[in-house]
Amino acid sequence: MIKKPKGCEDIIFSDAKKIKYIENIIDEVMEKYNYNYIDTPIFESTELYHRSVGEVSDIVTKETYDFTDRGGREMTLRPEGTAGVVRSYIENKMYGMADQPIKLYYNGPMFRYERPQAGRDRQFSQFGVEVLGSDDALVDAEVISLAYNIYKMLGLSNVVVNINSLGDTESRDNYRKLIVDYFTPHIDSLCDDCKRRLDSNPLRILDCKVDKDSKIMKNAPKILDSLNKKSRKHFDKVCEYLDVLQVPYSINSSIVRGLDYYDHTVFEFVDNSMEGNANVLGGGGRYNNLVNELGGRDIPAVGFASGISRVLLALESEEVELDIRDDIDLFLLYVNDTEKNYALYLAQELRMSGFIVETEYLNRSLKAQFRQADRLKSKFISVLNSNDLDNNEIKIKNNKTKEEEIINLDALIYYLEEKSTDEVLEDIYNLDN
Ligand code: HAM
Repeated sequence: MIKKPKGCEDIIFSDAKKIKYIENIIDEVMEKYNYNYIDTPIFESTELYHRSVGEVSDIVTKETYDFTDRGGREMTLRPEGTAGVVRSYIENKMYGMADQPIKLYYNGPMFRYERPQAGRDRQFSQFGVEVLGSDDALVDAEVISLAYNIYKMLGLSNVVVNINSLGDTESRDNYRKLIVDYFTPHIDSLCDDCKRRLDSNPLRILDCKVDKDSKIMKNAPKILDSLNKKSRKHFDKVCEYLDVLQVPYSINSSIVRGLDYYDHTVFEFVDNSMEGNANVLGGGGRYNNLVNELGGRDIPAVGFASGISRVLLALESEEVELDIRDDIDLFLLYVNDTEKNYALYLAQELRMSGFIVETEYLNRSLKAQFRQADRLKSKFISVLNSNDLDNNEIKIKNNKTKEEEIINLDALIYYLEEKSTDEVLEDIYNLDN
C-alpha cells in the first residue's frame, strides 16, 4: 500500500472542519485590519531562500526541499512565506502603489525537511502577514496584536508574547563581537551545534535548546544592553504601543529567531498550557534590510507567521470547544422514483437557500434511512410522499420533539427559517438562565 510521505498529514473530517473554522476566523480578522490576501508560488528559485532566510540558517543548510526542474533550473519548495512575498513586492513594484504601507496576508503550505514530531511536520500550513513600507513602531505593535487577537478570537486564553530586540545593524555588530568574546573561552562546554554557530551565526547560540539552562548561557551579555539609542527608542515605543493595545508580553532576551533577516523587534507567541517546543504558535519580527538585499529599494518591513497545526494543538490543549456544527437541518427520505426526483430537487432548492440538507444515496430501506438521519443528527426529517406532493404539501417532523406537521411546500423555506430562529432564541434564553 502506498503511504503518505513521512512528516505529512492527511487532514480529514473533524480536523478538516476545525481548520476551515480557524481559516475563516483568520480571514475575518484580516479583513477588519484591511490586509490584502496574497498567493505566491509554492516553489521559487533556490537562490531566493539562500539570499533571504540566510546562507547559514538551519533552514537553508539542512531543511529545504531542493530540486532541479526539467529545464535545469534550481528550485526550492518554500520553507516560509516572507521571502516569496518580498520577491513579489519587488517584482510587482508595490512600493510605487498609492496606498502605503502595503499590508499583505497569506495562508498556505510550507515545506521543511525536519525531524517529524508533534507540531513539527515536513509539510505544514502557515498563515502570516507582512507589512512593507513603514518603520513606525506602531506597525510592529499592531502586527503583534493582530496575531494575538486571532488567537483570542479562537478562544485561546494562555497565549503570551515573548518579545526582544536585535537592534539595527550597528547594535547587532557590536553585540556579535561581545558574544564571540564571551563564549570563545567556554567553547568546550557548548554543544556541537553551538561550536559551529560561534563562527557562523553567534546570535543563534542564545536560543540553543540544549545549552539553554547552563550557567554560561544564563550569564551571557544581553542584547538589549547593546542597543544603540535609536534601536532602544524603537523597542521602547513597541512596548509602549503594546501597553496601549493591552497585549500581555514579556521581554525575553533569548529570542533571536531561526531566520537571518531580522533586525529590531523579534517576537514569539507561546501557549503556556502546552509542553515542548510545539508550544510556540508563531513568531516574527522586523526585517528592514531584506527588501534591499533581494534587489529592491531600502524599504522597512515587519511581519509574523503562525503554524495552523500548532494552533490546532493549542486549541486541544486548552480544551476549547469551537463553534462548529456537527448536525444537519433536514434529511429527505423517499421510497419511489417520483419521491426520489422530488428529494433531489428539494435538496437543491433548500441548500441554495442556506440549509444543510441530505438525502438518500444508496436506495436503502426506509428504516435504514431513518437510522442515517439520526447518525447525521438531522434536526428535521421528512418522508416524502407522492400524495402529499401532488397536493403541494410536505410532512415534516422535528426529530427531537417528534412533533409532526403538514405544511404547504411553498412555505417550507419560511418554516425552516422560523424554526431555526426559534432555536437560536431558545439557546439565548437558556444561556441567560
Ligand atoms: P518561523 O518561526 O520559522 O518564522 O515559523 C513561524 C511558525 O510556523 C512557527 O512558530 C510554527 O508555528 C510554524 N512552523 C514552523 N515550522 C513548522 C513545522 N515544521 N511544522 C509545523 N509548524 C511549523 C517564519 O516562517 C517567518 N517567515 C515569520 C515571519 C513573517 N517573520 C516575518 N514575517
